[in-house]
Amino acid sequence: MRRRGSCREFDPETGPTRRQVGTVLDRATRGVPGDWNGGAADGLAFNDAYVLAAGVDGVPDGTYQFLPETAELERLSGVDRRTKRHLALDQSWAGDAHVNVYLLADADEPVDRLGDRGYRLAQLEAGVTLGRLYLATYAHRDLGGTGLTFYDDAVTDHLSPRAAGQTPTCLFAFGRRDG
Ligand SMILES: Cc1cc2nc3c(=O)[nH]c(=O)nc-3n(C[C@H](O)[C@H](O)[C@H](O)COP(=O)(O)O)c2cc1C
Repeated sequence: MRRRGSCREFDPETGPTRRQVGTVLDRATRGVPGDWNGGAADGLAFNDAYVLAAGVDGVPDGTYQFLPETAELERLSGVDRRTKRHLALDQSWAGDAHVNVYLLADADEPVDRLGDRGYRLAQLEAGVTLGRLYLATYAHRDLGGTGLTFYDDAVTDHLSPRAAGQTPTCLFAFGRRDG
C-alpha cells in the first residue's frame, strides 16, 4: 500500500528503460469493453496516447504518439523539461518525471456520433486507462507516478498539428523513483 502512493520525486540521473515504458503503455491502452464495442475492446476507441519522454534509456528525448497496434512511438517533435513542467500547470514533478503520458480525444466526433454520451464515454475510457497506467507503473518496483492536471489548450498546441481538434482528457507522469 505504501509503495503505491503517488510519486513526485524522480531519479535525476537514471530514467526507466524503453522496455519498462513500452510495457506500461501496452498494458494500459488495451481499451475498455462496453456496450459500444460489443463487450470486446479492440484497443482505445476514443482516445489517442501521446508521450513526452526525457531521460528514458533507449528512447531519444522527444514528443511522440504511441501507436498501440504496433507498440511503436512515432516521433512528432522535441521536448524539454520546461515544456513538460509548463503544460502540467507548472508543477515541477511533471518536468522531473521521465515520461508524461497524455490522452487526447476528438472534441466533436464522439458527440456527433453518439450524442452527449459520446463525451462521457471518452472521459470514462480515459479514466480507466489512467487507472491502468497507475497499476502498470506500480507493478515495477523501481517506478512511480501520479495523475496530474494540465493547461488544456497548451497541451493541444504542443501536440499539433497531429492533435488538432483534440482535447486532453488525462495526464499520467511517471518515471524511475528517486531513492
Ligand atoms: C485526474 C487526476 C488529476 C490530478 N491532478 C493533480 C495535480 O494537478 N497535482 C497533483 O499534485 N496531484 C494531482 N493528482 C494526484 C492526486 O492528488 C493523487 O494521485 C491522489 O491524491 C492519490 O494520492 P496517493 O496515491 O498519494 O494517496 C491528480 C490525480 C488524478 C486522478
